[in-house]
Amino acid sequence: MNVARSFSSLLVTGGCGFIGSAFIRGLFSNLAFDGRVVNLDALTYAGNPESLAGAVDPERYVFVHADIRDADAVRAVIERYAVDGIVNFAAESHVDRSIVAPDAFIETNVVGTFKLLELVRENPSLHFHHVSTDEVYGSLGPTGAFREDTAYAPNSPYAASKAASDHLVRAYARTYGLSVTVSHGSNNYGPYQFPEKLIPLMILNLFESEPLPVYGDGSNVRDWLHVEDHAEAIWAIVRSAPAGETYNIGGNAERTNLQVVRSLIQAVVEETGRPASALESLLRFVTDRPGHDKRYAIDASKLQRELGFSPSREFESGLRQTVSWYARHGAWVERVRSGAYRDWIQTNYRDRTPK
Ligand SMILES: NC(=O)c1ccc[n+]([C@@H]2O[C@H](COP(=O)([O-])OP(=O)(O)OC[C@H]3O[C@@H](n4cnc5c(N)ncnc54)[C@H](O)[C@@H]3O)[C@@H](O)[C@H]2O)c1
Repeated sequence: MNVARSFSSLLVTGGCGFIGSAFIRGLFSNLAFDGRVVNLDALTYAGNPESLAGAVDPERYVFVHADIRDADAVRAVIERYAVDGIVNFAAESHVDRSIVAPDAFIETNVVGTFKLLELVRENPSLHFHHVSTDEVYGSLGPTGAFREDTAYAPNSPYAASKAASDHLVRAYARTYGLSVTVSHGSNNYGPYQFPEKLIPLMILNLFESEPLPVYGDGSNVRDWLHVEDHAEAIWAIVRSAPAGETYNIGGNAERTNLQVVRSLIQAVVEETGRPASALESLLRFVTDRPGHDKRYAIDASKLQRELGFSPSREFESGLRQTVSWYARHGAWVERVRSGAYRDWIQTNYRDRTPK
C-alpha cells in the first residue's frame, strides 16, 4: 500500500552531478518541496555547483563539501541539520572510466553506500532512497524488457559496483528493518550533463566539427529517459512508495546509438542551419567497448500501475531542447571541461562541513 512520506530536511548526496542537480532544481521548482535541502557532494570531476546557481532558495539550502565515505562528516550533517530522509545520487557513473580505473567505483559506489547505510542503521527513522541503474540487469537480446524481478547480471565494473550497492541496500532493509526504496533508471539525457557521456559528447563534437566516435556498428540499443522525468519519478517514489520496494524508470524511447547520433545531427542542423552532409561526414565507427551490453529496455509498468507515474517528455523534442541548451551554455561547458569552475567554488562556497 502506498504511503505519504513528508520530509523537513532532506539530505541529497551527489547533488552537484547531472541527475542530483536536476533533482535539487526540481525540489525548488516543480516538485514543490518546502523543507530544507542539504546537498552533500565530494565535488569530483563530475560535480559542479554551478549547475545549481540561481536555482535554489538560499534560506532552505545548505551545501556541504564532503565524501559519503566519511562517516563522521555525514553523521555530523545528519545531526546538525536534523535530516529525516536521504536520496543517494553520489556515485562514479561513467562505464568507460570504470573499465580503465575501477577502484573509485568500488570506493564510492560500494563502500560509500555501505557507510551511508550504517548511518541509517544508527538513525532508523530516516528514509533512504538509493538511485540505481538498469545496467545491473545486464544485456538483453532483440526482445523483452527488464522487470524489477529480472536477475542481476552486471557486465561492467560500474554495473557490478551498482549491483553490489543495491544488494547492500536490500540486505540492510531486510536485516535491520530500515525504510528504503530503490530505483533503476535507464540512460539519462538533458541539460547539465558532463560532456563525456554519449549525447553531450556528440553535441559538442558536432558544434566543433570534431569526429563523432560510435562504438562498433552503432547498433547497441538504450532506452533514453529525460533527466527531469527521472527526477520527477524519483520524487514520486521517495514520497509514496512502500518501504522495501524497487521501481524501474524508463523513457519509452528505445534507440540504437546510431539513431541517437542521426537525431542529434538533425537537431544540430535545425539549431545552426549547417548542412547535414557536412555533419554526417564526421561519423566514425570505432572499436567496440569491451563487454558492451547489446540492448537495454525497461518495463516500467510497476511505476505506472502503483504510483501513477509515466514520463512526459518525448525523446526527439527533448533532444532538440538539449542541443539548444548546450548551444546557449558555452560558458558552463568551458568551465566544466577546464575545471575552472573550481575557482568559482572557492569564491562562492565556504566549506560548511560541520566539525
Ligand atoms: N547518468 C545516467 O544515465 C544514469 C542512469 C541511471 C542511474 N544513474 C545513477 O544516478 C546517479 C547519479 O548519476 P549522474 O549521472 O548524475 O552522475 P554524475 O557523475 O554526473 O554525478 C555524480 C555526483 O556524485 C558526486 N560524488 C562522486 N563521488 C562522491 C563521493 N564519494 N562522495 C560524495 N559525492 C560524490 C560527484 O561529485 C557528482 O556531483 C548514480 O548513482 C548513477 O549510477 C545514472
